[in-house]
Amino acid sequence: MKIIGKFAIIKEIIIFFKGGMIIVIKDLVKKNRSYRRFYENFTIERNTLEELVDLARLSASASNRQPLKYILSCGKNKNEIIFNTLAWAGYLKDWPGPIEGERPSAYIVMLNDTEITKNYWCDPGIAAQSILLGATEKGLGGCIFASVKRDELRSALKITERYEILYVLAIGKPKEQVVLETVGPEGDIKYWRDNQGVHHVPKRLLKDIILE
Ligand SMILES: Cc1cc2nc3c(=O)[nH]c(=O)nc-3n(C[C@H](O)[C@H](O)[C@H](O)COP(=O)(O)O)c2cc1C
Repeated sequence: MKIIGKFAIIKEIIIFFKGGMIIVIKDLVKKNRSYRRFYENFTIERNTLEELVDLARLSASASNRQPLKYILSCGKNKNEIIFNTLAWAGYLKDWPGPIEGERPSAYIVMLNDTEITKNYWCDPGIAAQSILLGATEKGLGGCIFASVKRDELRSALKITERYEILYVLAIGKPKEQVVLETVGPEGDIKYWRDNQGVHHVPKRLLKDIILE
């Protein structure tokens, strides 16, 4: 156990000091949770967002068409506009979303350029995961939003009809703990928050998702 423990520490050091040269992908995927409360006064520079989008740029794309385009936001005004178009954590019925001071420091709006193609297949999912894994590697975290008031966002950011609004990614320095749980025999997949504010996310067991 002790050796395993030391090895784990060595792995961490390698990740932090070699900038991810040795990728412990399972650790990164496990750490890459949906975070919804952040240290809002933590500044994320535009350059950081560009680095994250660069990971999406390098990712797989159906027929290599690369139709995805992005709008970056890390300033107060644009952040506020985007925040007001998002619906947070549908299962947490009595939580309307993060209070001021706990909101994301940045956003990436994911668009499809319909002049390239109208059929983007699963490109946005792959791109979103690349971006969020990159954010996690940098000690940041985020959340994918499909529940977006798209008409409001389009007019506020003056996004032309050429671009389909796909998802919004919220990014920040996480201020909450997220714990993975196992889906119980009753099959309830709803996430919940306990008295300490810890967010729990049930995941199905491997044996229940591999059919043969
Ligand atoms: C395509 C997609 C859309 C999502 N949309 C929202 C959303 O609109 N609002 C939200 O709070 N979370 C959203 N989420 C986050 C999910 O609720 C989250 O992934 C799920 O609860 C599992 O938690 P985990 O990401 O930590 O594994 C979305 C996730 C995905 C993949």
